[in-house]
Parts: sequence; structure tokens; C-alpha cells
Amino acid sequence: MPEQLNRSYCSDDSLGSSGELVAPSIERWPQFEPMLRLGVMASGNGSNFGAIQEAISANLLKAEIRQLVVNNQGCGAAKRADCFNIPCKLLDHRKFNQREHLDHALVKTFLQADVELVVMAGWMRIVTSVLIDAFPSRLLNIHPSLLPSFKGLDAVGQALKASVRVSGCTAHLVQPDVDAGRIIAQAAVPVHQNDTPASLAKRIQFQEHRILPWAIALTGLNWRQGQSIG
Ligand code: GAR
Repeated sequence: MPEQLNRSYCSDDSLGSSGELVAPSIERWPQFEPMLRLGVMASGNGSNFGAIQEAISANLLKAEIRQLVVNNQGCGAAKRADCFNIPCKLLDHRKFNQREHLDHALVKTFLQADVELVVMAGWMRIVTSVLIDAFPSRLLNIHPSLLPSFKGLDAVGQALKASVRVSGCTAHLVQPDVDAGRIIAQAAVPVHQNDTPASLAKRIQFQEHRILPWAIALTGLNWRQGQSIG
């Protein structure tokens, strides 16, 4: 079952007592009528996937996860999808001989599920323009650093190695350059002298679980407003 974390979504909590900072601060959640239709991609434990569903269940994020795609059979995210009764499809990257082929399969799956936004919630594969172009400005990623610092793999380890005193996480739109798209929301957390990769990752993930649902709401708002103008 997903962790029951003591998250707060209130605006006056954006500067927390332990030094974390969320921007833009989490204020009034937009209303979506009809609900936003989401697709989610995950590779591992799936705590971010769980946090999105928790924000939905708490009636903050007015959305519905219509489809989860995982690339690792039996991963934590797939187990959580079972608990939540969310359709989960396995697209194992090992079965595709080109990244583009996997991305075509992802696009097909999400179009069939009629999703508006796609969220890479711990998707540990590089994606190509096949997926990015199918969901322009509607493909979100969560990354465990304050971008543009520490792109790519082991962002938490990179931050510790660089002896930064503040790190954090970023929710951003995806573009072909890895971890480089437009930033939607960030949270900063202090790095303590005695931090290990695990302790810092835990502090960062706590904030990921707050900003990712919020970034989905902000991106969804943009998308729906563009739709109504267009
Ligand atoms: C998260 O910390 C996310 O930021 C990171 O993977 C973790 C997945 O955790 N993603 C990346 O590093 C992508 N570059 P989860 O499976 O518990 O959500």
C-alpha cells in the first residue's frame, strides 16, 4: 500500500520549518470539469505515482489516472496500480530494439486511453521525439535535483559529491535534451552534513510527492485554457 505521508498542500506551508521551499507555492487547486485525464509512466517503486493518486483521492487534483505504463514487470508501481484498480500495461524496453519503437507503443497506449497529459513519474528511460511530439507541452517529468543542476543519472549522488548545501526536485516539461524542458515547479531542501544518498533522497522525495501533483494541475490548466482559446 502507498505510504501515508504527512504532506501539506497549504500555501502557508511553502516555506517549511525544516527549510524546504516550494515554488510556485501551492495555493488554490484548479477545478477541472470534466476531470483531467492522465497517463503515467513508471519504472520502479512508484511512490510518485502513488502521490498523484493520493492527491486525487484527497480531492485536490481533479484528475483521473486512466493508464499506467511500466517497463519492469512486477515493479512497485504495478503493484500500487493493482491496489488502486488503475489499468497497468507492461511495455518492457528489452523487447524493443529501438527507443522509437517503445515510444510508438507508448503513444498508441495513451491515445487509446484518451489521456490529455502524460507524467513520467520515475520513468528511467530516455524518451524520443516520437513521444514528446505526440504530447506537446503535455509531457511532464520529475527529477531529483534543482535543474539545471545535476541532470541525468544519480542526481542525488551528484549533489552530495558537489557538496551543495541546498538541493531539491524539479517538475518540468520534457524536450529532446535530457532534463532540460520548461520548469513548472521546484522544491528546495537543505543538505545536511551527515546526509547519505538514502537520507537526502528521502527528503527530496517527500517534496517530489508535493510538487508533482501541483505541477500536473498547473500544466493541465495551461492545456485546458489553450484548448478553449484554440
Ligand atoms: C524519483 O525520485 C524521481 O525523481 C527519479 O526516480 C525516482 C522514482 O521514485 N527520477 C529520475 O531520476 C529521472 N531522471 P518512485 O518510483 O518512488 O516514484
